[in-house]
Amino acid sequence: MAKLKILEFPDPRLRIKATPVEFVSDELRTLISDMFETMYAAPGIGLAATQVDVHKRLLVADLSDDNTEPHVLINPEILEKDGVIVTDEGCLSVPGYYEAVERAERIKVRFIDRDETEIEMEAVGLLAVCIQHEVDHLDGKLFVDYLSEAKRQRIRRKLEKDRRQQATEVA
Ligand code: NI
Repeated sequence: MAKLKILEFPDPRLRIKATPVEFVSDELRTLISDMFETMYAAPGIGLAATQVDVHKRLLVADLSDDNTEPHVLINPEILEKDGVIVTDEGCLSVPGYYEAVERAERIKVRFIDRDETEIEMEAVGLLAVCIQHEVDHLDGKLFVDYLSEAKRQRIRRKLEKDRRQQATEVA
């Protein structure tokens, strides 16, 4: 297993729309393991392949405290959305920022898992929010897109400044 580098906003590669997975290869299974390792180490509750610069429709999630409820969603398709929930969302590609975002409270999602079994699942609350957030990544969309232009630019400038400082400290 290997920890992968997570792209950070405003990296243009986060805007690439991911293409469907045709079949679950050994290479893809390795990527799935690496994505879990990367997500758990961060730590985070969800990670889309887009965030590690692989533009395939694949996401992983685990909302448990002890990393015991791993979800692998390949080619996820949200079939139904219902209700409204507002949560403070964060994102491993926008480190340090949490902002209120409105999403559907419950969803029905269809996907294949790592054994290529087709599954239809209902998700409610935080899991529903997480899946919607990660599916957005696969479409090149970030949670900051739901904020005002002014707020998004402020976050962008601050992250760029942080990165310049880090570069100076390393140099
Ligand atoms: Ni994210």
